[in-house]
Amino acid sequence: MTDMQYRDYLRTRLKGLIPDGAALPNGFNLVGHVALLHLDSSLSEFAHLIGSATLGYDWRIRSVAVRLGPTEGVFRIPAYAVVAGEPNTLTTHIEGGVKYRFDPLVVTFSGGNRRERIRLRSAVSPGEIVVDMFACVGQFALPIAAGKSSQVFAIEVNPVAYGYLLDNIRLNKVENKVVALLGDCREVHPSRMADRIVMGYLHNTLLYLPAALETLSAKGGIIHMHMAAPTSETVSIASRIGSEAHHNGFMTQTIVRRIKTYSPGVEHMVFDIRATPE
Ligand SMILES: C[S@@+](CC[C@H](N)C(=O)[O-])C[C@H]1O[C@@H](n2cnc3c(N)ncnc32)[C@H](O)[C@@H]1O
Repeated sequence: MTDMQYRDYLRTRLKGLIPDGAALPNGFNLVGHVALLHLDSSLSEFAHLIGSATLGYDWRIRSVAVRLGPTEGVFRIPAYAVVAGEPNTLTTHIEGGVKYRFDPLVVTFSGGNRRERIRLRSAVSPGEIVVDMFACVGQFALPIAAGKSSQVFAIEVNPVAYGYLLDNIRLNKVENKVVALLGDCREVHPSRMADRIVMGYLHNTLLYLPAALETLSAKGGIIHMHMAAPTSETVSIASRIGSEAHHNGFMTQTIVRRIKTYSPGVEHMVFDIRATPE
């Protein structure tokens, strides 16, 4: 592993091979042995060259994949192609002692949510019942289950992601703490039992809030609702949350946290909703 910043490293390695002043990337998302790169479109013809140089940047990198387009659909399927190194991108990503085995070219694993995964793990109290409504390969469910003696229900609609989730539950030996459910969380959620609910899905998340409120214990609890939206909409979203909760007999206090910029003008935010019976 070199001490140099990635972009400086690329500039030095590729001097004379790519145009001076090329818009080189300043980083990548390392998932297991796979470096996921976003390249400026002006550099498409140099993707293989940049990928090969990237293999030498960090000993952990054995495959380099470049983004081809946006993440698509309800399943959030990423679009990447391997440009250098091993074509096999099935990998084991280890974070905070939790092992995630999956292919990052097949399901999305966000680098930007790392702090949130760690934060949530310590926010949970022993004995809590937690429902992860958009579990994917277990990004939130597994650290929570590994951290405290809590019971976690992990719901995932994509059968491929669900298969990885089952593998990861076994890999982390949390079979006694995590119940995995395959299906749409609006249909297969448990009823009136959760102390805490994680809604780690950014698109039209409010559509799923009624299901979250039906999942919540009658004593109330906390819902972490992720959402991509312009910050100018924060107040109206919070007000929708309040009225939706009221329909279900809950009062709410909501705190909004910013996670990252999702796209120009759109922020990835988390609405931490504390719901109590009215
Ligand atoms: C991008 S992943 C996010 C994973 C993780 N929650 C996080 O925030 O890092 C979103 C996951 O939600 C799943 N999903 C989408 N709609 C769903 C639904 N109605 N019920 C259950 N899972 C759903 C997708 O298949 C995908 O695996």
